[in-house]
Amino acid sequence: MTAITIQSVPLAAKALRQGELVAIPTETVYGLGANALNQSAVANIFAAKNRPSFDPLIIHQSSADRILAYAREIPPEARLLADAIWPGPLTLVLPKQESVPDLVSAGLSTVALRVPNHPLTLELLGAVDFPVAAPSANPFGFVSPTTAQHVKDQLGDKIDYILDGGACRVGLESTIVGFPNGVATVLRKGGLAVEKIEEILGHSVEVKTHSNSRPEAPGMLSRHYSPGVAMLIVEESASLPAYPAGSAAIIFGKDNKLVAGDSELNVFNLSPSGDLNEAARTLFAVLRTISQGNYPLVMAFSVPEEGLGLAINDRLRRAAARE
Ligand code: TXA
Ligand code: MG
Repeated sequence: MTAITIQSVPLAAKALRQGELVAIPTETVYGLGANALNQSAVANIFAAKNRPSFDPLIIHQSSADRILAYAREIPPEARLLADAIWPGPLTLVLPKQESVPDLVSAGLSTVALRVPNHPLTLELLGAVDFPVAAPSANPFGFVSPTTAQHVKDQLGDKIDYILDGGACRVGLESTIVGFPNGVATVLRKGGLAVEKIEEILGHSVEVKTHSNSRPEAPGMLSRHYSPGVAMLIVEESASLPAYPAGSAAIIFGKDNKLVAGDSELNVFNLSPSGDLNEAARTLFAVLRTISQGNYPLVMAFSVPEEGLGLAINDRLRRAAARE
């Protein structure tokens, strides 16, 4: 099979109705979509991604009302967040309705819900009468795709269509918020800043994103986003450790001492102007480029721990984590 890149929403909708796999653009990253109510289509997602079936999927629809219909209970704070952010880079984990297959939720009693903000995908979701399950469209453990070409490079032989909606505007996966014991809790840092969530709710929230073998958000396994090369995190203010010639460095902003360039080092700047939103947009493409080089070592300077910086540092640390 070779994926066909398309721009036609009706064609994508038809493929989804037939139980086929369609990669879809969102503002965060590209998703690998299938009809969430069709068990065999959902099973094909796990197979294409080589993803363990204990890792539950996010389901997507075109409006808060349409997606919240799959939740059995909606805490008032979930409604507040949905109204303020959707369509946008937020996923809510809520108690699930019977109609959501156990394969989607990996047997959990909750389901992850999202209204993504991309015109083509909103139109596509509006055209089908089921929710679309869509994990990031990358093989399990690898970097998430932010262009149609990234999807084609990594999964082109395993899926039917790629709906090309251009480069993703946010570039990091959605922020996941659940309500364990009724308390708003960030389960994955992502494209929506935690500060924004706190501003909407009017109080600080729990952040619980570390997990191991049977995690609450299994995508948060410590080793994830692997570029497949040795990677070392250098804390923001620290100086550069000794490195082999030909190594790579990931930096941020204009004050970094590496900006001038060092012929021994291949420098990738996530945002020369020091803009964390731009850095979020560039991060996965940089990790992808690095995974294609032959660098003996990659040193990544952490970015300021604020706004989208929390999620960027999280992804860098996971990319650097060893088995
Ligand atoms: O931005 C995004 O969220 C993208 C786009 C395509 O929407 N999707 C995405 O999906 O990142 P995925 O499958 O790569 O990551 C989903 C995360 C996983 O870490 C999974 O464990 C967690 O959501 N998750 C799903 N259902 C859950 C549940 N019921 N409880 C806790 N975590 C859940
Ligand atoms: Mg993923």
